[in-house]
This record gives sequence, C-alpha cells and structure tokens, in this order.
Amino acid sequence: MMTLEESFKDLEKRNNQAELGGGIEKIEKQHKAGRDTARERILALLDAQTFVEMDKLVTHRCSDFGMEKNKVLGDGMITGYGKIDGRLVFVFAQDFTVFGGTMSRANADKVIKVMDTAMKVGAPVIGLNDSGGARIQEGVESLAGYADIFYRNVMSSGVIPQISAIMGPCAGGAVYSPAMTDFIFMVKESSYMFVTGPEVIKTVTHEEVTMDELGGAMTHNSKSGVAHFAADNDEQVLMMIRELMSFLPSNNMEDPPTQPCTDDVMRQDETLQTLIPADPNKPYDMKDLITTVVDNHNFFEVMPYYAQNIIIGFARLSGKPIGIVANQPAYLAGVLDIDSAMKGARFVRFCDCFNIPLITFVDVPGFLPGTNQEFGGIIKHGAKLLYAFAEATVPKITLITRKAYGGAYDVMSSKHIGADVNFVYPTGEIAVMGPEGAVNIIHKGRLEGAERTAAVDEYRRTFASPYKAAELGYVDEIIYPKQTRIKLIQALEMTQNKSKTNPPKKHGNIPL
Ligand code: HXC
Repeated sequence: MMTLEESFKDLEKRNNQAELGGGIEKIEKQHKAGRDTARERILALLDAQTFVEMDKLVTHRCSDFGMEKNKVLGDGMITGYGKIDGRLVFVFAQDFTVFGGTMSRANADKVIKVMDTAMKVGAPVIGLNDSGGARIQEGVESLAGYADIFYRNVMSSGVIPQISAIMGPCAGGAVYSPAMTDFIFMVKESSYMFVTGPEVIKTVTHEEVTMDELGGAMTHNSKSGVAHFAADNDEQVLMMIRELMSFLPSNNMEDPPTQPCTDDVMRQDETLQTLIPADPNKPYDMKDLITTVVDNHNFFEVMPYYAQNIIIGFARLSGKPIGIVANQPAYLAGVLDIDSAMKGARFVRFCDCFNIPLITFVDVPGFLPGTNQEFGGIIKHGAKLLYAFAEATVPKITLITRKAYGGAYDVMSSKHIGADVNFVYPTGEIAVMGPEGAVNIIHKGRLEGAERTAAVDEYRRTFASPYKAAELGYVDEIIYPKQTRIKLIQALEMTQNKSKTNPPKKHGNIPL
C-alpha cells in the first residue's frame, strides 16, 4: 500500500509526464520551427493563473500498429477552461509533439466534453489547431471522432462564439472543424490549411505547389477567403483572439460586453466635412470615416486582405460593441461582387446571431458587370448579402455617404429591408444608376453635345441627390458629416431595446 506522501508523489509524476507531451526533443523541434507548444499557447491566451485543465491523464485506446506500447498522457490534446478579461472561455489545443497533434477517438472525446460543457454553461470555445488530421492508426474511430466534433460545431453555431486559430500544418479533418467555426486566425509562414497536401495534388493533378502557396496564411486570407485574420507569430495571434473576444457576448442570450466610454460622445470632426470629394468619381478611404467616428478611433477589422471593396469589422460607439459593414470606394470603386457579397453576408449573420448592432456605411456604384461575375453566380451570391441584411433583427443603422445606386441601394441595409435608422450626407446620390448611364439608356444614344449634357444635368439634379429619397421618407435625416458620431450614437441608443422576431420557421433557405 502507498503512503499518502507516495500517492501525492505518484500524482505529481503523472502530471509532470503529461505536461511534457511528446518529450523534450519534440518540444525543441516545435520551438525551432518558431512555434510554441500547445500548453504555452493556452497559458499565453488566458488570463494568468486561470487555466483549469480537464482530462489531463487520458490516453488513446488503439492497439493496432504497435500503438499499445506508445501512449502519452493527455494524448496530444490539451483541454479545459479559463478566463479572458475575467470572462469564462473553453479551450482545446492540439499538441503537435504527440503523434503530430492528430485526432484520436480518445482526444476527440476530450474536445467533445469541452464543447458540451461550453454549450451547457453558455461560454465560447477557442480551438488552437496544430494537427496532421485524422490519426491514421485509428482508422474509422478517428473519423467518427471528427464527425462528432463537426456535429457539435453545427449545433453550437449561433449559440456560443467558436473561434479557431491555425498554428501549424493542418490537414484533412483538422481544417473542417475550423471551417465551421465563426472566425479563423492563421500565423504567417508557420501555419497551413489544406484538404489534401502538395504531394497528393502532384499525384492527382500534376500541379506543383508549395505548402505556403497552397494553404499558407496569406493564401487563405487574401485568395480563398477561408481565414479571417493573419498574424506574424503565435503570440500575436493569441493577443488578437483576446481582442476579438472583447467585442463578443459569451452566448446568444447575452448582449455584447459594454466598456466604459473614454471618448467624447459629442465629438464633432471637421475633417469629415471634406472627406467626401465633390467630384463623385474621385475615391476616398472609407476607413478614414470609420476610424474617425468610432470610440478612440479603434477599429478591429475582419478579413482586411480579402475582397477589399467591402470593409467589415468591430468597433465601439459610446462603449457598446457594433459590427460595421462598409463599401470601400478606394478599392474597385466600392462595387459589390461575388467575393464582397459573401464576405459581407457572413459577417452580418454573425452579428445578428450574437446581438451585435450593425452600422452600414454605403458608397456603392452597383454590382460589378461582366461574364466572370454572371457565370460565377453573382445573382445568388449577391442575394446572400440581401438575405442576410433582411433577416437580421439586431438594430440596423445605415449611412449613405455618396453613391447608392441600383440593386446595391436596396441590398445595403436600406429602409425597405428593415433598417431602423437611415442617414444620408448631402453628397448622397440615390437612384437606379449614375447620370451618364441613365441618359444613354433613356435616350438610346440619340442625344449628342449640349443636348446630352443638359439631359445628364437634369438627371443629376433630379436623382443624383438625397432629396428624392428624403421626400419619400426612405431616409430619416440628411446629416452634416461632422455630426456622424453623435448621430450614430443617438440612433444606437434609440434602438437599444429593439425587439423584433422573424416569423417562426425551422430555418430559412439562404441562397447558398
Ligand atoms: C498519424 C501522423 C499523421 C497522421 C502526422 N503524423 N500526420 N500520425 N496520423 N495523420 C505524425 C508523423 O508520423 C510524425 O510522427 C509526427 O506526426 C510529425 O509529423 P511530420 O511529418 O514529421 O511533421 P511535418 O514534416 O511538420 O509535416 C506535418 C504534416 C505531415 C504536413 C501534417 O505529417 C502530413 O502531411 N501528415 C499527413 C496529413 C494527412 O494526410 N492526414 C490525414 C488527412 S485525412 P513522429 O513519430 O515521426 O514524430 C483526414 C480525414 C478526416 O483527416 C476527414 C474529415 C472530413
């Protein structure tokens, strides 16, 4: 029989063993690759001394391929809970030093326990992924573990925020669970995501591609749109996750967390009076407007490298988190296309899930014409954004700064699809299309010279202004640009107790 002292020593030994993961050599290899270990990552992510580990001594139950002689306490997955800024979050982190962080039946069950508990208590789940995918030695048991997690990702979607960081080479199943979470962070030059790697691609399609070109952080941040954020290293990713969490409620029954506002709510900004150029064809940077107006000029942009003709992200007004969707006239004139519509739609739906009011800044010449867009399905993809704005029941406040032409006027959170407060600047132009195009169509190219100029001028006077829309009550107020901050804050305060529900249904049928 062990003495009490011996039993405590025995536990200590097991704990120490678990904490070593795949051993010193593998930990050094991980560090040499510029990556932290799973345990180091969790400790850096959470508030100091708040991490509570679960299932530390779990081992796999595989006995094929000699695996019964190769067991590591914890089985390559660290799970538990802790706090970010004092608020409860659940975490799991794959430990690449143990069987390449791969998914086994046993460690899938650890993740499942974390996800189920997080759903019971209504707290976010953060996954730090660094895994070679399904553990090959476990066959279908590993696939079953993945599918059990995927199922929970879907059931948790819209109930608790789910955040993924990709912090190493993630292949196969290791990318599908993140794909179903709300936001994906990646680390530049040390994280990769792909369904099949370069070797398989070479065999099947004879294409030669590097890991980074195929699935590196910038590929997924700028080309595929799979990832939402890119950071320079592990530490930066974890700090960015902490910042993101500061805008989000813990679950869909809570409001997002308010912070004391240290910025003047009445602040007027003279620079905004001249931000929109008098010449409607001249671009300007919509981010200047956003950062001028929000609390402490702090805008946390989401997907900054993808479809830059639309801007999305989080900020605060009078201390309250808001989601911003804005056309960017400085990129492709702010036109709506397939990629920007999808980017905007998913963000709008996220904000609606989690009670985050939407502020929409509009300067859009319309949808991008062309066979590429039509063949690519701009009709159904553009409809996603329209659908998302229309179905959102959170407070919706819209400001048209300049152009709001054609279908894009309707789509960009117009009064008609349920916006609560619609502002426009005196520089607003709200009509079916721009003056030149309109005259060409109405007069079928019959007018030339002075006659044509007069027709364009007449159209501009009649339609390329905010006054027609104001006469009809389609916009509530024409505001001076310098007043934007206070006007938005007043509108947010007015709508803060908004209570609206859509008709009961199993779920809608968004054009996917
Ligand atoms: C078991 C694996 C493994 C796997 C890696 N390892 N992947 N063990 N199953 N899937 C082990 C390696 O044998 C090695 O063990 C250790 O993890 C580290 O791997 P290395 O190859 O040495 O590391 P690196 O060179 O950095 O390459 C990492 C990698 C590569 C890019 C992830 O290992 C790789 O391509 N692995 C296979 C990826 C894959 O095809 N997975 C299955 C996908 S199918 P030792 O003992 O030497 O340290 C899938 C199905 C689910 O996931 C689908 C659901 C939709």
